[in-house]
Amino acid sequence: MKIGLLGHGVVGSGVRKIIDDGATWEVRELAVKRILVKDESELTDPRCTLNFDEILNDPEIEIVAECMGGLEPAHTFAKKALEKGKYVVTSNKKMLATYCEDLFETAVRNGVTVHYEASCGGGIPWMAALDRTRRVDDIDSFRGIFNGTTNYILERMKKEGKDFDEMLAEAQKLGYAERDPSDDIDGYDVKYKVSLSCVKAFDTLQDINDITTFGIRNIRREDLEYCAANSLTCKLIGTGEFHGDYISAFVIPMFLKSDDVFSNIPLNFNAIESDSKTLGAAAFVGQGAGSLPTAHAVVQNLVDIWKNQDPEINDKAVRPVDNQAHTGVYYIRTAKHAAFADIIDRNVSEHAFITKKISLMQAADACAASGDEKLFIAEVAQ
Ligand code: HSE
Repeated sequence: MKIGLLGHGVVGSGVRKIIDDGATWEVRELAVKRILVKDESELTDPRCTLNFDEILNDPEIEIVAECMGGLEPAHTFAKKALEKGKYVVTSNKKMLATYCEDLFETAVRNGVTVHYEASCGGGIPWMAALDRTRRVDDIDSFRGIFNGTTNYILERMKKEGKDFDEMLAEAQKLGYAERDPSDDIDGYDVKYKVSLSCVKAFDTLQDINDITTFGIRNIRREDLEYCAANSLTCKLIGTGEFHGDYISAFVIPMFLKSDDVFSNIPLNFNAIESDSKTLGAAAFVGQGAGSLPTAHAVVQNLVDIWKNQDPEINDKAVRPVDNQAHTGVYYIRTAKHAAFADIIDRNVSEHAFITKKISLMQAADACAASGDEKLFIAEVAQ
C-alpha cells in the first residue's frame, strides 16, 4: 500500500525509517512513495517534494500520513486527501481536536476513515484499547498523564532539583516538546488529547474551549518543596467523565499521594487509565513522546488500514462540557492572596494556601478574577 507522508520532522522521519526498515511482514506491505517537506533544505531523499498536489493527485497513494503539526496547512491537506477518497492517519492532536467534526464528516461522505492513534499517548496503544473496550463496554471515565514533556520536566525538577527552563530546553532537544512548547507547559496539548480521548471513549464531540485547563508554566521549586514535605508528587493530569447528557473534562496539575500509581511514572512516559462497566480499571504505560514511539503508533494505523480494520464503530454526538460537579481541595500560590479570602482554608507559606473543598469552577473563577497571570494552582489529592 502506497503512502504519502506529510512532514519529515521528528515524527515523519520516524515513520519513514520504520517503513523503510520493514522489520515485519506487515510493515513490508507498506511503502512511502512521496514525502512532503516545507523547504529546499529538507530535500534529502529522492521521494521528497515541495508540492502537495503530487501526493493528492497520485492515484497510487491510498493513505496520507499527516505528521506536520500545526493547524494549517495540515487541516486543509487532510481534508483535501479525504475528499479525494484517501485514508488519513494523523499524529496531530491540535489539528484533529480542533477540526474533528469537519474531518469525520468529510471522511464519512467520501467512504474513508481518519485514524489517530499517535495523536494521544505517543507509542501507547491507548486509542486501540478504547476501541476494543467500546466494542463491549460503556466507558465511565479516564484520567492520565498525557504529556511527555511536562512529565519529563516535573520528574527531573523533583529528583535532581533542576530548573524549569533548563529542563524544558532539554525536552525540546530530545524531540518531546511541541513546535510551540506553550502547548505543552500551558496544558493545551493535554486538552487536545483529552478531547480526542472523549471522542473515542464516550463517542462525544465537544468544544475544546470548554475544557478547563491549567498548566505548569508557573511552577517553582517552592511548590515542589511543599510536595516533598508532604509526601506528594506533582503530575499534570487530564480527566474525562461521562455523565449521559454531558461530559466533564479538565486538565490540572495534581499533587498525588505516593501510593498513587501515577506518582512513579518516569521521564517522557505517559500513563492513562480507563474505567468501564465490565472491564473495570485498565491502565496503559509507555513512551508518550519522541520520534520512534510516536511513529510506531502512526505505522500501527497504516497497518490497520492495510488490514481493512476500521476503528470508528460508533456514531458521535455533540455533548456539552460541564465541570461544575467536580470538587476538590486546591493548592494556590499567588501574589494576590487577598483576592482569594473567601476560599482559603489555611496558609502553607507566605504566598501559598490550601483552599476549602470547592468546585473546580469556583477555583477557576477565583483564579481568573484575581488577574494574577503568574499564579500556580494544583489539585491536592485527598
Ligand atoms: N509534546 C507532546 C508531549 C508530544 O510532550 O507529550 C507527544 O504528543
